[in-house]
This record gives sequence, C-alpha cells and structure tokens, in this order.
Amino acid sequence: MNVGIDAVAIHAGKLRLDLAETLAPALDEEPEKFTKGLGLHASSFPDVEEDIVTMGANAAHKLMERKGLTPDDIGRIDVATESAFDNAKPVSTYVAGCLEQVYDEDFHHANKGERKFACIAGTQSLDDAYNWIRAGRNRGRAALVIATDTALYARGDAGEATQGAGAVAMLIAEDPDLVTMSVEQGFGSADETDFLKPNQQFPSVDGKRSVQVYLARMREALEDYESVAEETHPDQFEYIPFHTPFPGMVRKAALLGYRHMIRDTEIEADLASAIGEQPRPDGFDDEAQYHDAVRDYMDALKETDAYAAWYDDTIEPTLDIARHVGNWYTGSVHIARASALRSAREAGIDMTGKSLLLGSYGSGAQAEIHAETVQENWTEEIDALDIDEQLAARRDISFEEYEEIHDVHNHDKEIDIDAFTTPSEEFVRDGPGPMDERTYRYVE
Ligand code: CAA
Repeated sequence: MNVGIDAVAIHAGKLRLDLAETLAPALDEEPEKFTKGLGLHASSFPDVEEDIVTMGANAAHKLMERKGLTPDDIGRIDVATESAFDNAKPVSTYVAGCLEQVYDEDFHHANKGERKFACIAGTQSLDDAYNWIRAGRNRGRAALVIATDTALYARGDAGEATQGAGAVAMLIAEDPDLVTMSVEQGFGSADETDFLKPNQQFPSVDGKRSVQVYLARMREALEDYESVAEETHPDQFEYIPFHTPFPGMVRKAALLGYRHMIRDTEIEADLASAIGEQPRPDGFDDEAQYHDAVRDYMDALKETDAYAAWYDDTIEPTLDIARHVGNWYTGSVHIARASALRSAREAGIDMTGKSLLLGSYGSGAQAEIHAETVQENWTEEIDALDIDEQLAARRDISFEEYEEIHDVHNHDKEIDIDAFTTPSEEFVRDGPGPMDERTYRYVE
C-alpha cells in the first residue's frame, strides 16, 4: 500500500521583519552575521489577528478548497505545534471549529489530537497518519496534518534572529499525488535539555549546545535508518530536506552527512589524492587526536568541488523559503521539502520516481530519517503553491512595529493595537469567549 502526502498548502505570517536592514542595526549586530552566518534574510511574523489557529486553519482551508474536499473526506486532524496556548484542549479542535464555519458538514467523526515533541512533532504526525491508513482504520478517509507555530524567542535571546511564524497543512492519503513515505525509518533519540519551555511561552535555550545535539541525534538517526534500509550514497537522493532552524545549521548537518555517505565509496577514493582518506578511529591511539583529524578532513572536504557541487544541487534548493521566513519549528522540514520541489519545477527537473531523504529534528531531543518517493502528479501540487505571492504580499515592519507585535503575541502582556494588514477571505482571531477562550471568525 502506497501512503504519503497527497497535497500541501502553506500559510506564512503576514508581516515581514528584514534582518539585515531592520533587526541587525537595532541589535547592534553586523548584518552579515544574519545573512551569511545564519543564512537568513527575513522573518515572517503573525499580524495582530493571526495566531497558530488562524494560520493552521487558513492553510487547511486552502488545501481543502483546492482538492475539492469536505469534512466528510477527513477522518483525522492532527496539529503539531510547540506554541500551544492550552494544556488540555487541542489546537485541532479550534481549527475544526474554524473550518466548520465555512462548510455545511462537520468533523464530529474525525479523530483529533495534538502532537508535541518540539519541531519533530510535524513529522511524527505524518507518521501517525501513515500508520492509521496502513492499519486500515481510516474508512477510506484521509488525514489532515497541520504543523503550525509562532516561533518567538524572548527579546534579547540569541535566537531572536531565527524567529518565524507560519503553518503547513498536509493531506495524508493512499496513492498520494505528491510523495510516498518509506516504511523504513531511523531514529536518534536522547534525554537532552538544550531547548525547553517548562510552562513558559519563550524557550530557555543553550544555543551552542543545541547545535551539537542536533548533529549528534541526526547522525544516530542516519545510522539507524541505514540499519533497516541500505547504506546511503550521495547520488541516491535528488534532495535532502533537513529541519531548518536557520540555513547555517543545515550547512553543518549536510557536511557531516556527506562525509558519512561517501565513506568506503568511489567518491572517497577519488578525493583521496587531494585530501587523503577519512580518518578511522582504529588508526588512532588517542580519541582527541582522532577528532582533530576528522575536523581537518571535514575542513578540507568542504573545499572540494565534489562537495560544493553536491551541496548546490541537493541541499541549497531546500533552503530558499527558510531564508525568507525564519524558523517555523514543526513546519520547517516541510517547507524545506516544498522549497526543493518548487526549485526542481523551476529548473525543469523531472522528479517522478526520484527520492528524497528527510531529516527531521526536535529539541529535547530526537531526529528521524526517512525516504520519500516523488509521485507523477507532483507538478500539479507544486504549481498550486502560492508561497511566492504570499511572501511578496507581506507587510514590512519597522523595529518599533516589531517590538509592538512581539508584545501582542507575548501571553504575559496586554497590548491593544490595530492590525497592520486588512484580512480578506481568511480566519482571524475574535474577542475572548465566555471562558476567556480564544474565538475565531471568517472574514469574507
Ligand atoms: N559575517 C559572516 N558570518 C558571521 C559574522 C559575520 N559578520 N558574524 C558571525 N558570523 C557567523 C558565525 O561564525 C557563526 O557561524 P558558524 O557557526 O558557522 O561559525 C554564525 O554566524 C552565528 O554566529 P554566532 O554563533 O556567534 O551566533 P550566536 O551565538 O549569536 O547565535 C545560535 C547562534 C546559538 C544558533 C542562536 O541563533 C540560537 O540560539 N538559536 C536558537 C537555537 C537554535 O536554533 N538551535 C539550532 C539547533 S536546535 C533546533 O534545531 C530546534 C529548533 O528549531 C530551535
């Protein structure tokens, strides 16, 4: 049975903060630290009337309209988020409530839930939907998976330049139009405290450590994947979309991945005359010396034409969207996939039957590696993405406006300002309900 992603729709926060022009001077940072070091140009922010529910519902609505679906076609709604505002009632119920305002039918017979494991929860929700369909419990219906986050950090935190907000809605179905997902999966999972939110809205982060934990868990996941699939090779995958907190993180992960994949291959042999063979642990008595040798090898590998060409073809196209929206936490790896396929479409590459390797990651910490195979209707799905139009339509905000909007979305602050944009044909936040709950309405 082929199960995977049938359709995807994206909703980006409607405001744009330019990192080089606006954030860097205000924080007294060099613009190149953000644009070159982190690899980011802009963050998307939610306007006053947007939140994780409106962004998720707007993405899901767009997807359902495009595919001609009604609530009866959906047997499951899972929302993945690390920005939830309620410890009991799942975001999926709010999203279903929004969608029921615009459809005659309801979702009363759909199973709804919320997945939490930092950014990897989006991929875990795909896995849950995949398993539900393969188990034959779906009664012919599809699953709606929505990854939605306002990835905000406390003001002054080093993560401030990596912020972002947006939602990715995905329809998971049998015989999908976009990609099928592999049965084989690899995991790297450990109890880590590099990034966490113990009953607080903004994360406590050990940024430098979080980078090392990402790399360690990703490597474990790749080895675990190879133990059930096969040894991976750089030529096997057209694209490798990684979780992208910022493109500079993926630059580090890609180099490690490439070193791993070329070991004992003709690529390592071809490069040996220029940079030597990869150091192996059994060639060293001292572990520190081995690690130094690996670092030297990686520095040399990074400069080779073979690596640069592979990176440009396989990794760079996955980063296009992230560079202009920042980190979307649970949605991040899913915009990396969309970015890669959009780039293939622009380059006229026939992707049907080609493979992707997905590297998902969540702090706390867990990585998952699985493969995907692109399906023959992928062009229709990618042509339907309106992400370029959305990004172009965003309203640029000044630093003072950024300070206000950060406060608007800070749960501990009460600030009343007008929205910067005028909603049209979308869900927006309304006033609080009788139990102080969030309420929503559809604006024609
Ligand atoms: N020109 C070019 N490059 C420059 C530069 C300049 N003028 N100034 C600095 N740089 C480079 C630095 O060399 C560095 O690159 P390398 O790591 O390749 O050396 C890069 O810019 C960043 O500089 P710093 O390390 O000095 O930046 P920082 O310490 O202020 O912050 C960070 C970096 C710790 C990652 C911070 O952004 C952060 O805490 N982010 C949030 C946590 C995060 O995203 N972690 C990623 C892994 S965890 C995860 O993936 C889950 C998740 O979604 C959060």
